[in-house]
Amino acid sequence: MPDTKRSDTKHSRQPFGQYPRIRMRRNRAEDWSRRLVAEKVLTPADFIWPVFVKEGGAQREPVPSLPGVHRLTIPALLKAAEHAATLGIPMISLFPYVSREMKTDDAREAYRADNTIGKAIRALKKAVPEIGIMSDVALDPYITHGQDGLERGGAILNDETIEVLIKQALSLAEAGVDVVGPSDMMDGRVGRIRDALDAARFQRVKIMAYSAKYASNFYGPFRDAVGSKSALGRADKRTYQMDPANGDEALRECALDIAEGADMLMVKPGLPYLDVLARVKAEFKMPTFAYQVSGEYAMLKAAAKNGWLDNGKCVLETLMCFKRAGADGVLTYSAIEAAELLKKAR
Ligand code: PBG
Repeated sequence: MPDTKRSDTKHSRQPFGQYPRIRMRRNRAEDWSRRLVAEKVLTPADFIWPVFVKEGGAQREPVPSLPGVHRLTIPALLKAAEHAATLGIPMISLFPYVSREMKTDDAREAYRADNTIGKAIRALKKAVPEIGIMSDVALDPYITHGQDGLERGGAILNDETIEVLIKQALSLAEAGVDVVGPSDMMDGRVGRIRDALDAARFQRVKIMAYSAKYASNFYGPFRDAVGSKSALGRADKRTYQMDPANGDEALRECALDIAEGADMLMVKPGLPYLDVLARVKAEFKMPTFAYQVSGEYAMLKAAAKNGWLDNGKCVLETLMCFKRAGADGVLTYSAIEAAELLKKAR
């Protein structure tokens, strides 16, 4: 490699690179020119909208730690999904609110055919067939202790959990789900779920693997929304979710999920993990998604509420940053707001 600093001294009249001949600001000078040289575009087709579904009570129930986010009944969900589809959002991701009485130690509600998510998928497929439907494969909303898998003697059981996850994935597929998202981080679950789906003739069902999912403190408001926070108490998920210190390990997780049959990969959380996202996209060239998680959403909303930030502008900036880092799309609670802003800007 030539030593650029030393070779610069040959042109001693230009000690600062090639200025004034080269001016980076020229291309930034006008709006049309900025648009012309933009490397990435952000469109509503980049968004996956996570929605919390519940049965009974008010149509829309606010989640206090996620200002602007509501748990929706199925009729309210149908209206919201219709609106999302009209805005050009390709997919929604459904999460259940599960009341305490429905939670058990074996999470059997997770695969009951007529559970909240099953009903929601069937209703959506009839009412809004043009939008894709994803839902999580993980036990946390349905299990007494709020962990993503079965527990015995303080340990989260890997292989026993997979058997339940398979039942859950099949019940989602039966209801008509398009994409299952294993968010549980058990080893080997992607392959086992793929085999089970194929054996039951659900070859069409895609798997978006939560491949690089970190044991993050930014999931707090989500756990409020699905009602697993008080169940989880002070426990954490560090024996199965990844250590924030590790980047290389994320590549191994992704390689395994690809080998096991994942159609799409996910890195989660979002902004603090853009380095991981960029490495995963560069390494595997897979359809790769980022999850801008509940805590990230809540931080921006809280600052905006205080008048310290412009929420809309910051949201659009963060979403563009995901694109720049290599994401093909982003799961974001701001999907509707962002899509509406993009529409207005057009
Ligand atoms: C559950 C799940 C979580 C999220 C998505 N699926 C929480 C967790 O693992 O505890 C987090 C999403 C968010 O914070 O927005 N397996």
